[in-house]
Amino acid sequence: MSLFLMTDLDDALSAASDRLGLFAGRVRTFAEVTSTNDIVAAWADAGAEEGLVAVADSQSRGRGRLGRTWSSPPGAGIYISTLLRPSDAAFPFLTLAAGVAVADGVETASSLRTILKWPNDVCVPRPDGHWMKLAGILAEGRSDPGGKRHVVLGIGINVLPAEHPPDVSARATSIAEEVGNHVDRAAVIVECLAALASAYRDLLGGRQASILEAWTSRARETFGRKVAWDSGSGDVHGVVDGIDAGGALLIRTQSGHRRVTAGEVRWLEH
Ligand code: BTN
Repeated sequence: MSLFLMTDLDDALSAASDRLGLFAGRVRTFAEVTSTNDIVAAWADAGAEEGLVAVADSQSRGRGRLGRTWSSPPGAGIYISTLLRPSDAAFPFLTLAAGVAVADGVETASSLRTILKWPNDVCVPRPDGHWMKLAGILAEGRSDPGGKRHVVLGIGINVLPAEHPPDVSARATSIAEEVGNHVDRAAVIVECLAALASAYRDLLGGRQASILEAWTSRARETFGRKVAWDSGSGDVHGVVDGIDAGGALLIRTQSGHRRVTAGEVRWLEH
């Protein structure tokens, strides 16, 4: 772990402990891991309580949604995972809540305004209409050896410009590239965890509607855009029309609305 992250992060976490809810006193830091999601999955299998957090300075096998890799060079990003044991009612809304929390946390720490692209890509809109990806979230639903269901929630945030593979560089940005000044990585971690603790409290308290509202207000810019969704039995083409009360993406097609809860949505104009 870089000295920078360890000292600053410990201080920042202590200073904010009353806002960290279930994460307070439960953050563990690592220099390099395969994936912070692997660390947390092992904790879950060993019966750990929810709220434990792994933060790493780099990942050798960072992974993204849909089997992709997540480029995780040292010092450039935030690689963080936590163990959650949501109720059945909260479960379907967790990834949306995490997207809202990361967008809110980044904005509080750096003043950078971001938008959300379903389900939870955190992006920065460019004047030419393109969206550059700033952060992504990987929620892995699992069962521990005793059969208890849990979620390993992984968050990756680009903080500084870094050498990424060309396909990633073409569509990625970082907080520093957007706000053009020094970024306090510890503050970003603290604010994202504080926002996640609050969003999770909302979900457990039955306030799903407030999460859906917050998500919608950050995603409005994506509504009306053309998409193709791989439904499993062929591509469905249509226009994004928002989300429904269950958190599913609504795609308006020539033959009516389709509800999307999983799979790849390709944005045809962004
Ligand atoms: C995506 O947009 O595809 C999701 C990216 C999630 C990356 C984070 S980094 C921390 C955690 N560990 C991983 O291996 N992946 C997630």
